[in-house]
Amino acid sequence: RGGPVIAVDGPAAAGKGTLARKLAEALGLPYLDTGLLYRAVGRLALDAGQDPAQPAERFAQALTPEDMQRKDLRLPDAALAASKVAAQPAVRAALVETQRRFAARQGAVLDGRDIGTAIFPDADVKLFITASPATRTLRRFLQNGGDPAAPDAQTQLQAMEDALRARDEADASRDSAPMRVADDAYVIETDTLDAQAVLAEALWFTRERL
Ligand code: C5P
Repeated sequence: RGGPVIAVDGPAAAGKGTLARKLAEALGLPYLDTGLLYRAVGRLALDAGQDPAQPAERFAQALTPEDMQRKDLRLPDAALAASKVAAQPAVRAALVETQRRFAARQGAVLDGRDIGTAIFPDADVKLFITASPATRTLRRFLQNGGDPAAPDAQTQLQAMEDALRARDEADASRDSAPMRVADDAYVIETDTLDAQAVLAEALWFTRERL
């Protein structure tokens, strides 16, 4: 390989994306958000009027760079559809090479669920970024512009936390490349850390290993 591979895995809304992007910038490496691949496949299935739990391999095979740039990939329905197509071994298989090729030339930072366990079991550095469901829900709520003082804030937060827990549970319990902490991963619990502190800890560990 032309450079180091850094795997950043963890559950939904743990801050993986923010961290991975900054790590890539600090180390001068390309960055790939692998969740976007599954979100785009889920979106294509929805567009075709198909239940994302039904076989979606053909959408994974037909994926284009434009599909990955759609603004609506960030919406909650795309996340749910992503998790459903991501449970299909044929969909995962169709996306393996894309991810490996991305890092072939210069190395890369990739964030996802199975980067350190399935896509790059030999990654130079493996980080697992996590936080309690309540912390992750709150962060996502505030990030989306939610108002904690709104009369229905409690109801909104509860619904978000339920959806987040359900997706984590599905991702961790599927048979095909489930989300789990790699044996040699360095775990960062971010409940009491801000983004700067998470970056500092991740960079410190990474530079130690490279
Ligand atoms: O990270 P993000 O929330 O964008 O991922 C959306 C969904 O895509 C996840 O819930 C998971 O089901 C799937 N995914 C995956 N493997 C990855 C990245 C994402 O299964 N490497």
